[in-house]
Amino acid sequence: MNLQSLSSRPAASTICNHRRKLTDLFSIKSPVGFSSAAMPLLLSSLNIHSQPRNLMVSRQIASGGGGDLVPKLLDRKWTLQKPESEVHRVHLSPSPRLFLRRLNASNPLLGAGNHTIHPSFYVVRDDLLHPTANGNKARKLDALIPLLLDNFVTDVITCGGCQSSHTAAVAVLCAERGMRSHLLLRGEQPQILTGYNLISTMYGHVSYVPRSVYADREAMLKGHADLLAGSHGHVLWCSDIAKASFADESKARWNNVGVGSEEDCARKVLIINEGAGDGVALIGLIRLVEYLSQDHVFGMEKPIRLVVDCGTGTTAIGLALGALCLRLPWKVTAIMLADTIDRYREKEKQLMSEFSSQYGYKLDIGDDGGLVHWVQRHCPRKFGNILEGEMEKCQQIARQTGILVDPVYTLAAWEMAAQLSMEGEELVVMVHTGGTLGSFGLAQRYKSHFSSLK
Ligand SMILES: Cc1ncc(COP(=O)(O)O)c(C=O)c1O
Repeated sequence: MNLQSLSSRPAASTICNHRRKLTDLFSIKSPVGFSSAAMPLLLSSLNIHSQPRNLMVSRQIASGGGGDLVPKLLDRKWTLQKPESEVHRVHLSPSPRLFLRRLNASNPLLGAGNHTIHPSFYVVRDDLLHPTANGNKARKLDALIPLLLDNFVTDVITCGGCQSSHTAAVAVLCAERGMRSHLLLRGEQPQILTGYNLISTMYGHVSYVPRSVYADREAMLKGHADLLAGSHGHVLWCSDIAKASFADESKARWNNVGVGSEEDCARKVLIINEGAGDGVALIGLIRLVEYLSQDHVFGMEKPIRLVVDCGTGTTAIGLALGALCLRLPWKVTAIMLADTIDRYREKEKQLMSEFSSQYGYKLDIGDDGGLVHWVQRHCPRKFGNILEGEMEKCQQIARQTGILVDPVYTLAAWEMAAQLSMEGEELVVMVHTGGTLGSFGLAQRYKSHFSSLK
C-alpha cells in the first residue's frame, strides 16, 4: 500500500510555529459577496480563512515527484480559522473501577515518559471546535464551505436521519455565511423538536421524507434540487466543484454548465451527499493529521494508533489518507457503527478512487485490506440504539474526566482507546468526533435509559 506520487520523506524542520504566527497574521476575513436577487436578506457573519500561498509550505512534504500533494491540497480557504484542537490526556487506573483523569496536554509528547505509571491515551478534542457544528462535521465541511462561496452557491441540499448532526452542521455553517440550506430528513417530524433536529430546523429548511423515498437518496436529492432550481437555476454536486477548484478553474465552474456568475440571479443549488461522504471532505481530515504531526503535538516519528468511531466511515478514511500522504507511521482503527465490514471496505475504495480522480493522484491501496483497520463494536447493535448501562458509562466518564461522550458514537471509540492503551504497545490517540447534542435526541427516543440516570 503506498502513495505512488510521493517522494521520499523529508526531515522535520522547526518552521511550524513561525508558520502559524504568519498564518494568523495573514488570515483573511472577507465579507459575503452575494448580490443575487434570490438572496435578498441573508447576509451575516463570515469567517473564511485563507492561508497565503507562499507561506503554506508544509514542513512534512518535500517537493518533487508529486510530493507536493499535501501543500497543494492544503493551500486553500478554510472554514475553521485554525486546524488546532485541544489535546487531553486520560489516565486509567486498574480495577475494581476504572478511574479516569483528564490532564491538559498542550505538548503531549513532553509527558510521554510516564506511561509506565498508568496506562493512558490522548483525546483530540474536536468536540470543542464549534458550539453546534463540531467534531468531524466541522472537519468534513472545512474545505467545502469556502468552495460554495467561491462558486456563488445560493442553496445547499443534503439529507440525513431525523437527528442528523451532519444536516445541523450544514444548516449552521451555511446560515453563518448567508446561504440557504434545505435538509431532507428521513421519517416523520418528532412531536417535540430537540437536539440536532432542533438545530437543523432553526438554521435551515427542513422537509421530512418517507423512508421509501429516502431509500434512493440520489434520486431524492436530485429531484428536490431540480425543483428548487426551477427552469432558470442550476444544480451541481459537490464532486463537480471540488475537482474544478483543484484544477484552478474557479471562475469556469458554473460557466461550464452554462451558468453566469455572481451577478446571475438564478438559484445555484449544490448537493452534498449524506454525511458529507464526498472526496472533498477528506481534505479537512488531512489538515487535521498535518496539524497533529507537528513537532509540538505528536511529531512524525512515533507510531500512533488513531482511534475513531464511524458512521459512513468518511472521517476514518480521511485520517488514514492523511497519515498515508504524510508518510506517518500511524494507523487508524475505526469502530464500525451498524454496517458490515464489506460495506466499509467498499466505501473506502469508492472514496479513495473519488479522491484520486478529483485531485489527480494515483493511490495504490491494493485489493485486500485497504488503509483503515475496521473493527466491530464491542457490543454490536441496530443503528441508533442504546444498550443497557451505556448512559451510566457516559455519565461516569463525564464526571471523572470532564469529557462528554455519547452512547451511539464516541463511547465506542473511548472504550477501544482505553483497551488499546492497556495493551500498551503504541501511543493511542482518540479523535473525539463530537456529537454533543446527539444525547438530547436519544433522550426523547429512549426515555427509560435516561430516566434511570441518577
Ligand atoms: C459524533 C459522530 N461521530 C461519528 C459520526 C460518523 O462519521 P462518519 O460518517 O464520517 O464515519 C457521526 C455522524 O453523524 C457523529 O455524529
